[in-house]
Amino acid sequence: MQHRASTLAITAGTAASLADCRQDILAGLTAPQKHLAPKYLYDRRGSELFDEICALPEYYPTRTELALLRGNAAEIATLIGPTADVVELGAGSSVKARVLLDNLDRPASYQPVDISAAYLQQQAAEVAAAYPLVTVRPVLADFTRPFVLPSAIAARRTLLFFPGSTIGNLSRPRAAALLDSLAARTPGGALLIGVDICEDAAVLHDAYNDSRGVTAEFNLNLLARLNRELGANFELNEFEHEAVYDLRHKRIEMRLVSQRDQSVTVAGVTIRFRHGEYIVSEHSHKYDPQEFADVAHAAGWAYGHRWIDDAARFCVHYFRALDDAA
Ligand SMILES: C[S@@+](CC[C@H](N)C(=O)[O-])C[C@H]1O[C@@H](n2cnc3c(N)ncnc32)[C@H](O)[C@@H]1O
Repeated sequence: MQHRASTLAITAGTAASLADCRQDILAGLTAPQKHLAPKYLYDRRGSELFDEICALPEYYPTRTELALLRGNAAEIATLIGPTADVVELGAGSSVKARVLLDNLDRPASYQPVDISAAYLQQQAAEVAAAYPLVTVRPVLADFTRPFVLPSAIAARRTLLFFPGSTIGNLSRPRAAALLDSLAARTPGGALLIGVDICEDAAVLHDAYNDSRGVTAEFNLNLLARLNRELGANFELNEFEHEAVYDLRHKRIEMRLVSQRDQSVTVAGVTIRFRHGEYIVSEHSHKYDPQEFADVAHAAGWAYGHRWIDDAARFCVHYFRALDDAA
């Protein structure tokens, strides 16, 4: 057996440490509206907390998407065809990829791409141990920056798998640009992507403000991470998690709200907060299915199929690279 948990090599892409991102972080914290990119939420602790969020009763996206994948696995496998190379963007726990690996016809490889290094290594090793016939190649990379997309092994069909509505964390123009660059780099490939479509403000409010406070802990871990990795001195109990639905932009906005006037030092720079001032730590854009299909089409992806749950909260789209579909 060649893939053992202890020997699985990680391919280093462009993922940077927080110290490397110092300029970007300071630019965000000194902007008129303070903001930090959601990718910074994911260190090992952030990844673990995100998995806890996925198990919460209020957090409908994960169980809805999993049910769509499981319930339509045979159809999805037929569309994708045999011996695919599965490249997962923002792989996290790989739980959803396992549904594909269980149902696809002899998948050749699984290549999880993620920014959360330790967690990526651990999850990839577990997948490798569970699927000895599948070549597992974890890639540490930031997909919002130029990175080398894992190549097909033996020129089989590449399936880009992008679940979790992670695409929704990007602004609409940036999401379109990423889809465009993925299409350009995956000739003959396919894209299976999960997108949140829920616009019910009450359901969204509960999903992002859970009663056990796990989402709050996930959000506040960002400040703890800045303390750990950039020598910042945020007092965690002086900031509160807040998540509001912005109807106009069809997105959840996650915030860290200062509970008083205060100054914090981050990487040697003093950042002042007024009482009530906040850092935007994540956007989660929601897309009507046709709106998303139109964006994907303009980016070079031809509609193949889509699956939507009965409550119309989540959509799994299947696209083929346009050249291939023509
Ligand atoms: C919303 S979670 C989804 C996890 C999993 N795919 C799922 O569906 O449950 C986002 C995942 O993408 C990763 N991620 C976020 N931003 C990223 C980036 N810029 N580049 C690479 N991975 C990123 C995070 O570490 C996390 O594992």
